[in-house]
Amino acid sequence: AADIEKDLTEILHSEEEILAKLKELAARIEADYEGKDLLVIGVLKGAVMVMADLARSFSRHVEMDWMAISSYGSGTKSSGVVRILKDLDTDITNRHVLIVEDIIDTGLTLTWLVSNLQSRQPASVEICTAFRKPDAAKMAVPVKYVGFDIPDEFVVGYGLDYAEKYRNLRCVATLAPHVYS
Ligand code: PRP
Ligand code: MN
Ligand code: MG
Repeated sequence: AADIEKDLTEILHSEEEILAKLKELAARIEADYEGKDLLVIGVLKGAVMVMADLARSFSRHVEMDWMAISSYGSGTKSSGVVRILKDLDTDITNRHVLIVEDIIDTGLTLTWLVSNLQSRQPASVEICTAFRKPDAAKMAVPVKYVGFDIPDEFVVGYGLDYAEKYRNLRCVATLAPHVYS
C-alpha cells in the first residue's frame, strides 16, 4: 500500500465521499428517468469504477453498454480527434442514453462523443461525470450530472490513470511531482 501512497500528495476525495455523491446522483437520475428505459454508456477505461458504483446505486433496471475511444495525434492526450476502439453493442435509435465518465478535462472527448451518439438518433443524450476540471475546459460540455469540480491538477485514482497506473486507487488524489517529472 505504501508503494502507491508515496506517489500521492493530497487526497481530494475519499471513497466514502465519492460513493455518497454517486448515491445522490443516482437518486436524481432515477427521478428524471421515471417511466423511461435507460441505457447507461460507460467510456472505457476510466469510467469503469464510476459505472460500477453508480449502477449499483440504482434501485431500478438499467442497461449498461460500453464504448472504448481513443484520442490520437502527437503524444499528448485529447487532440480532439477521436477514434472508436470498441463501439456500442446496442442500437441506440430512440433510446434514452446517459454517458458515464470519470472526468471531464478539456471537454474534447465528450464533445466528440455526444455528437457521435446524437447522429444515431437516440431519444435523448445526457452526461454524468464523477469529476470535472472547470479550469481546464476548452469546450463547454453540457453536463447534467456532476459529482465534483476539482482543480486543474494531475489527479489519479478511482479510474483515473497516469500512464495506465493508479486506476485502482479507491480515492482521488493528486500525483506527486516526482512521479511525472
Ligand atoms: C480520460 C478520461 C476522459 C477523458 C477526459 O480518458 O477518462 O475520458 O480523458 O479528457 P478530455 O475532457 O480532455 O477529453 P483517456 O483518454 O485518458 O482514456 P482512459 O479512460 O482509458 O484513461
Ligand atoms: Mn476516459
Ligand atoms: Mg487516461
